[in-house]
Amino acid sequence: MWIILILPFLLLAHLEHSTEAIILSTPPEELLAATKVISVKNYPADLQATYEVFQAKCTTCHGAEDSLGAKEVLPSYWETTIHRMQAMQDSNLSSGEAEQITQFFIYDSAKRRRSLLESQLKKLSPEEKASEQSKIDAVLKRYAS
Ligand code: HEC
Repeated sequence: MWIILILPFLLLAHLEHSTEAIILSTPPEELLAATKVISVKNYPADLQATYEVFQAKCTTCHGAEDSLGAKEVLPSYWETTIHRMQAMQDSNLSSGEAEQITQFFIYDSAKRRRSLLESQLKKLSPEEKASEQSKIDAVLKRYAS
């Protein structure tokens, strides 16, 4: 009799355990690669607004996860990539919007993806590193609260 009473709880415990196992066994980069939305509630107001522009305009040809989980996070990567996106036919992006979205990703990479950014900075020559760092500093200074 008691087994019938505890059966639902046993099943529930098993289900919870297996979900946990899936999350724990998924490499962080794969979880990040599936990121379609992020929380920007602690970001400066201007960048919160830019995030909305990004979600509206950068998701018409491919998912937001391509940008939010990009494998590269250096400022020059964002500059070249977003410039290439804007130059595409039907991109529907003004150069002002592209510039703001570039600033958003430089900021976001420095905050949310800091360890990846630092590991990519480490691999650069001193000149390249200084150039990337000055772009990061300029954005962080501009949006310092
Ligand atoms: C007109 C369609 C279109 C729009 C709009 C668009 N993209 Fe793309 N995006 C593409 C295509 C096509 C590719 C793959 C080819 C390439 O990388 O040039 C791509 C690739 C990418 C990549 C991966 C590049 C790499 O290094 O492999 C990123 C990151 C990206 N887009 C970000 C953005 C962002 C940010 C925006 C908004 C500013 C945006 N995209 C808007 C079409 C678009």
